[in-house]
Amino acid sequence: MKTDTPQTIYLKDYTPPAYLVDTVDLDFSIESGGTVVTSTLAMRRNPLVSARPLVLDGEELETLDVTVDGAKVPFLASASSLTVDHLPDAFTLRTVVRIKPDGNTRLSGMYRSKDGYFTQCEAQGFRRITWFLDRPDVMSTYTVTLHADKATYPILLANGNPVANGEEANGRHWAKWADPFRKPAYLFALVAGKLDGLFDTFTTASGRTVQLAIYVEPGKLDQCPHAMAALQKSMLWDEERFGLECDLDHYMIVAVGDFNMGAMENKGLNIFNTKYVLARADVATDVDFENIDRVVAHEYFHNWTGNRVTCRDWFQLSLKEGLTVFRDQEFGADLHNRQTARIREVRGLRAAQFPEDAGPMAHPIRPASFVEINNFYTATVYEKGAEVIRMIQTLIGRDAFRAGMDEYFRRHDGQAVTCEDFVAAMAAASGFDFTQFMRWYNQPGTPRVAVDGHFDEETKTFTLTCTQANPRASDESPYLIPLRVALFAADGNLLPGSERLLQLTATTQSFVFENIAVEPVPSLLRDFSAPVYLDFDYTPEQLTVLLAHESDPFNAWEAGQRLATQLILDAAAAIAAGQEPVWPASFVDAARKLLQTQAGVGNFGGAAFVAEALTLPGETTLAELMSVVDPDALHAARNGLRRHLAEQLEGEFSGLYAGLTVNEPYAPSSEQAGRRALRNLCLAYLLELDTLSVRQLALQQFKTADNMTDQFAALAALANVNAADCPQREQALADFYAKWKNEALVVDKWLQAQSTSRRPDTLATVKALTAHPAFDIGNPNKIYALIRAFGANLVRFNAADGSGYAFIADQIIVLHDRNPQVASRLARCFDRWTKFDAGRQAHARRALERVRDHAGLSRDVLEVVTRALG
Ligand code: PHE
Ligand code: ZN
Repeated sequence: MKTDTPQTIYLKDYTPPAYLVDTVDLDFSIESGGTVVTSTLAMRRNPLVSARPLVLDGEELETLDVTVDGAKVPFLASASSLTVDHLPDAFTLRTVVRIKPDGNTRLSGMYRSKDGYFTQCEAQGFRRITWFLDRPDVMSTYTVTLHADKATYPILLANGNPVANGEEANGRHWAKWADPFRKPAYLFALVAGKLDGLFDTFTTASGRTVQLAIYVEPGKLDQCPHAMAALQKSMLWDEERFGLECDLDHYMIVAVGDFNMGAMENKGLNIFNTKYVLARADVATDVDFENIDRVVAHEYFHNWTGNRVTCRDWFQLSLKEGLTVFRDQEFGADLHNRQTARIREVRGLRAAQFPEDAGPMAHPIRPASFVEINNFYTATVYEKGAEVIRMIQTLIGRDAFRAGMDEYFRRHDGQAVTCEDFVAAMAAASGFDFTQFMRWYNQPGTPRVAVDGHFDEETKTFTLTCTQANPRASDESPYLIPLRVALFAADGNLLPGSERLLQLTATTQSFVFENIAVEPVPSLLRDFSAPVYLDFDYTPEQLTVLLAHESDPFNAWEAGQRLATQLILDAAAAIAAGQEPVWPASFVDAARKLLQTQAGVGNFGGAAFVAEALTLPGETTLAELMSVVDPDALHAARNGLRRHLAEQLEGEFSGLYAGLTVNEPYAPSSEQAGRRALRNLCLAYLLELDTLSVRQLALQQFKTADNMTDQFAALAALANVNAADCPQREQALADFYAKWKNEALVVDKWLQAQSTSRRPDTLATVKALTAHPAFDIGNPNKIYALIRAFGANLVRFNAADGSGYAFIADQIIVLHDRNPQVASRLARCFDRWTKFDAGRQAHARRALERVRDHAGLSRDVLEVVTRALG
């Protein structure tokens, strides 16, 4: 589709809607040639706004009829708007349009997938269904009637409660749904398909019964019980933690294989990517099971944070997303393992959000402008947004945070509000002054906090001097940064009374600890109390003390990451200079200690923690710390350290591998998952040695595993083997595909194991796979698994000859019109192109310019590529 010159939309230009829609009545007649949508809207002028014509949003609609109060009216229609003037103060607007869901490849609006018709309306998909005021501050009560062929589409669903249904001529049937809650159009959903359903109930704290249903592709009911249990656990958790009860009589989840995102919180009718619903021990990994818990919870939690209280405009997206991610993180931590949950959150933030915040798409969690809102469903809005909410809780405490949530709902239930409204409720409940804190909402960039420690023997004081900077911010004024700290003695004892929550408010600020007898080791940014880079000039000895004795699990892990980071960056520099890297024995000793104790370090740990601690920082995270990224040297350095650990600790890895077997039947419990994670980590380290016996061990595990976690871990490790000739690798890949070729989500894993491989021939493999029957350019999951995952493969995507760049550019061009949202996500692979050497930059620039200059480029891709080119 050809787009006009893209317009930038500004937060400062917000104005309230000129008209309001009290009720919406929709009638969908679904036929093979198209769907006719009849919309009847009870509208009135917004009394707060002076008289203006009515301008409705629409996209790819064939307008058949427009009437006001039953009479034909003159109207002005363009491709994207329908304007009606000279309207009374209150009126009924009826429009009839035809849409073509079968030809809708963008998966926005109403579209066809294998088993029927589905909708996706956030952010601006409703306008692809009917003429409407498609903005979140227009909230209405909906009734919906669906008509379709009964044999082909036996299941007809919409938001709310079923009120009536019946048969019609020609083998058709109809169903009518009514949603008692006012909602914005982006929460509308319908489904018409042939689906199987799993049914259950939940009884709320006040004794109401909610009917629960999960609808999936026929034959997949045995992959639904985990999601159902996750839903019930989420409902209970939200009552216990936040006093929030489900307000619905019917809560439905529908899984669809073609979906741009993870899942969608449509009121009472969530639509999910199958990836976040379907699970069974033999097809889903421990991580999949945990992700399903989190995503099911996330969408359920939106029922309050997003649906009951929604966003005034799309700039406020983090109001619902940051808060809801924070809530699903807390749920996940309570359900699984709080220690490793926090570690993984930070690992993810550093791998995705920190680079985003340093690149061309950097934006505040509440952006000030955008061209295409779909480009702002980002790690910043979601994950950094969640960190901002977490900081609020850290600053005022858990009880005041809960009181703030209560106050937020007391003030704003049923409204469309702003981030300020949320913070104001928190301020009212706590008395805390958030004026300076609002900077977190309004500035892009990751602040850097440099800390200096000074011990004074005379006065027996230890002074921490903290200096903050954020070069990406538009001005220099400081943030309010909560900095959790503690002091440790050199022997590893926590100094009593030294645990403090410092509030940094000035550019440079000192904090004095009294009665300190000997120079302590400071533990800084405990539990990652703020999303910042924290610089402190630690010695390896100090980090080893923290790794062994920290009482904060996050910072114990962090100490190990800091040690490894320094080693890898030094080694990369050595390799780039043609020298051999050096690996100090102290690091190996620390790793050995972790493996030996296996109970972890300090007062916590377990296998899950040790697995996290022995996972080296990723290449993408490390690349952010280099001024010019040399991906080959970085790759060689990181894998060199992995191999060195494998050589030095072969006995420990083998011993643990043999000892960590799980002897009970598979369960995705955090206890079992932790054991599998560590055992599979041992296998992957051992494969660095690439001996015949280890290859055979991996193949053996691949063949005998009774669960996907172990089977896939063996496959992924083998897929990474570099040797040109590795028959075990070939066999595992061939067997895996033969066994799972009819299980779409497992095929995605097969593609991803190959696209993320470190092998030098990975690009050739990926190219060949684009023509394999396993691949489908119409399916976002396949594109993410094969193409985007390749774009995240730092060493292969950034090949010196530019071949990786050219390939991704080709794919963006193939996709930009077919599915602009997915194409735009692919374009984000280029975010960090200016961090590389001149040769790579020249190749990347050429690839980006080729995309930019492609005729009729979609607005989504154009915004990303234009920003990348600066
Ligand atoms: N609102 C969804 C969520 O975070 C994400 C989403 C956005 C899905 C846009 C589809 C389209 O839960
Ligand atoms: Zn969300």
